[in-house]
Amino acid sequence: MAEQSARRQSKEQPGAEVSEAQIAVHWQEEKYYSPPKEFIAQANLTDKNVFKRMSLDKFPGYFKEFGELLDWDKKWDKIFDGSKPPFWRWFVGGRLNASSNCIDRHLAMHKNKTAIHFVPEPENEPIQHLTYQELYVRVNEFAALLRDSCGLKAGDRVTLHMPMVAELPIAMLACARLGVVHSQVFSGFSGKACADRASDSESHVLITMDAYHRGGKLLDHKEKADTAVAEAAKDGHKIDKVLVWQRYPGRYSSPAKLVDGRDFVVNELLPKYRGKRVEPAQMAADAPLFLMYTSGTTGRPKGCQHSIGGYLAYVAWTSKYIQDIHPEDVYWCMADIGWITGHSYIVYGPLALAASSVIYEGLPTYPDAGRPWRIAQELDVNIFHTSPTAIRALRKEGADEPAKYGYRFKHMTTVGEPIEPEVWKWYHAVVGKGRAAIVDTWWQTETGGFLCSTVPGIHKMKPGSAGPGVPGIHPAIYDDEGKELKAGSGKAGNICIRNPWPGVMQTIWKNPDRFVQQYYARYCKDRKSKDWRDWPYMAGDGAVQAKDGYYRILGRIDDVINVAGHRLGTKEIESAALLVPEVVEAAVVPVADQIKGKVPDLYVALKPGMKPSDDVAKKVSAAVVTEIGAIARPRQVVIVPDMPKTRSGKIMRRVLAAISNGQDPGDVSTLANPEVVDAIRGIVK
Ligand code: WTA
Repeated sequence: MAEQSARRQSKEQPGAEVSEAQIAVHWQEEKYYSPPKEFIAQANLTDKNVFKRMSLDKFPGYFKEFGELLDWDKKWDKIFDGSKPPFWRWFVGGRLNASSNCIDRHLAMHKNKTAIHFVPEPENEPIQHLTYQELYVRVNEFAALLRDSCGLKAGDRVTLHMPMVAELPIAMLACARLGVVHSQVFSGFSGKACADRASDSESHVLITMDAYHRGGKLLDHKEKADTAVAEAAKDGHKIDKVLVWQRYPGRYSSPAKLVDGRDFVVNELLPKYRGKRVEPAQMAADAPLFLMYTSGTTGRPKGCQHSIGGYLAYVAWTSKYIQDIHPEDVYWCMADIGWITGHSYIVYGPLALAASSVIYEGLPTYPDAGRPWRIAQELDVNIFHTSPTAIRALRKEGADEPAKYGYRFKHMTTVGEPIEPEVWKWYHAVVGKGRAAIVDTWWQTETGGFLCSTVPGIHKMKPGSAGPGVPGIHPAIYDDEGKELKAGSGKAGNICIRNPWPGVMQTIWKNPDRFVQQYYARYCKDRKSKDWRDWPYMAGDGAVQAKDGYYRILGRIDDVINVAGHRLGTKEIESAALLVPEVVEAAVVPVADQIKGKVPDLYVALKPGMKPSDDVAKKVSAAVVTEIGAIARPRQVVIVPDMPKTRSGKIMRRVLAAISNGQDPGDVSTLANPEVVDAIRGIVK
């Protein structure tokens, strides 16, 4: 069934994926770049033997090395339990606490060291430097507040809707200290999106902030909490308490009123907890650390559940060896902590290694495209991590800016979407000044940490290619029939991972069937099998492997649009459009965009008798922003007389995608209504 529907999708709705595959096929092989000698001389991992040590036949023993990067209250009894595929368990019997691994254990050596540099967007506001000791104090006090004012205990879920401020990791680590499961919702998401996630995770406490800076404005954020509580209530879910941090302690910066008995200003409660310490809960390794909601093939976002032990071990290991973080480095990942990249590679990975991690509040191009390089210079950042979208924007708005500043990166990362070789080369030559090692890391919310990347101290770099599987990860490409493509065939197929690994999600929150269905069912050889070898993980991305073993990722094979590196479900967007009473059908397609990679175009058909108008188009756009957030705002809403349909009545998104992308929709004669194609072409901008 799954196989059939996936095949149907790839035939009927390839949309831009087809063109991406074609680009890939026409892309010439790029030449290699070598990481600088000075980089290799100091790199944490230069021993090629790591791949022999971590060969498939040595699974799962080699993951011991990952677990050993952490401090355990009780050592594990068994490294891997595969008895209930695909619900793998890692470091079974072990007990630990994520917050004490990211803070307490560093105090002896590093208490005076900066854990977090918080950079406010307004350039005249001083940068705040939190030492590990201060982080320890603030996390303890907030943990005491959560425990004593909210009655939270291990296993409870809490929703966070926090902007990019130091209080976000403080809140996450305070939850982790108690064994409370945090679920951070990206601050750019709407109150409604926050409500959906809070009710799915059954969070009764919402942690937010009154306001934050973005693009030169102090945005009201508290109002979204009011919407979230109201929307959750409609869904039958009660949020009892809203904890509101003040962006400026002592001053409430939102016009939204505080609701008596429900809303509490954190900064007013905290003095009661001054000096309080909370013993870190000794949690089972496979207890959940957090949920991270992500888009998939059906409408509702899924809560990817990540474990404490396996996840933390995996992000610590990959931070050390792929990000090459040493304790003396200043590390800046410009992602948002509201996405998995921020969880793994701003908070948990770097802090587990006692690094100094930078958190920047605002837009990379505010007030101008020189901002990131001024921050880098000011803090002497030497490891820099961002997405192709940000790189494209910085290149477009300030190609010559980096040369004006005296920072020096030893290492740079790109993540989140395929990077065009030309953009890679600018990143390397101009941002990296030709002196940095670059890693292109391919992975997902579900996978916890990196899957494919070069090891910067070992491999050469190839623009546009992620690289081979990272040590311990064994990818394979399967065709639609489940046959494995020959290694290095240069043919496109579905990329899978043969072996389980500690960072992989444990399940989808409250939906184990969907977990099995979505990631394992398609290529599982025998659903009764207890052998992990029969359960490859299907990532849902198309990929090709070149002769040198490097993988190039082509994009999603399911109904997901990757906008500026953020996954948005097409069904989520279409469902939002259908909330407008005039709309009877909606179809969203990805359009290539110079900066964001992809942006959505939204096609809608109206109920009989309804007149197309700008007003309706605006209502549709507003519905998408309300339901999901500004990030999903369509480039344009196109009101069509009818959707192009197959004879069986399926909307042909492929045709719409071609029109939106200015391409030839190909042979449309087999459609039920071929004449509508020209009519639509006349309307689209
Ligand atoms: C895409 C972000 C090409 C891919 C970490 C994947 C990439 C989805 C890369 C996951 C990369 C991520 N090259 N494509 N280096 N990294 N992707 O869950 O389609 O937000 O499935 O996780 O982004 O997005 P997610």
